[in-house]
Amino acid sequence: MVIFLSGPLGAGKSTLSRAFLREQGITGLVKSPTYSLVEPYTFSGYSIYHFDFYRFFDENEWEDSGFRDFFEENAICLVEWPEKAKGVLPKPDLDIKLEYLQNPDSGLFESRRITLKAMSEQGERAVACMESKHNNEHT
Ligand SMILES: Nc1ncnc2c1ncn2[C@@H]1O[C@H](COP(=O)(O)OP(=O)(O)OP(=O)(O)O)[C@@H](O)[C@H]1O
Ligand SMILES: [Mg+2]
Repeated sequence: MVIFLSGPLGAGKSTLSRAFLREQGITGLVKSPTYSLVEPYTFSGYSIYHFDFYRFFDENEWEDSGFRDFFEENAICLVEWPEKAKGVLPKPDLDIKLEYLQNPDSGLFESRRITLKAMSEQGERAVACMESKHNNEHT
């Protein structure tokens, strides 16, 4: 499962990733992969790789990095700044966009919007699962 997280600096990509990792049961430190480009989390049954391509400058590094293998594993890949590696990344199953919303009266950026787009059957199942969970929690 490949999940892209796009949006401007500070939109909340890492915060959402951290929440996702906590939800999966990670209790230890969730480090930012800004410099390492990837932080791996391994469970008994599967792995989650948290990528941040903000500092990925050269797509020629892709082959040497071994990142391709992570995407081919039976793993969950969370990808911040996918647009910085768009020439080499596979297509996502879920495309998540985060943005700031400006209050038209005050001019202040007071809230955020998240948009989820399923890009595969697996992505559709994930969105349907989130929708049903959301509806159960709010009825
Ligand atoms: N949904 C939210 N509500 C309120 N504050 C938030 C929310 N999401 C993130 N923040 C706050 O916004 C700041 C930036 O968040 P975060 O680091 O997750 O952004 P980012 O999109 O990963 O940025 P970058 O592009 O630098 O990686 C943090 O201080 C975080 O606590
Ligand atoms: Mg971040």
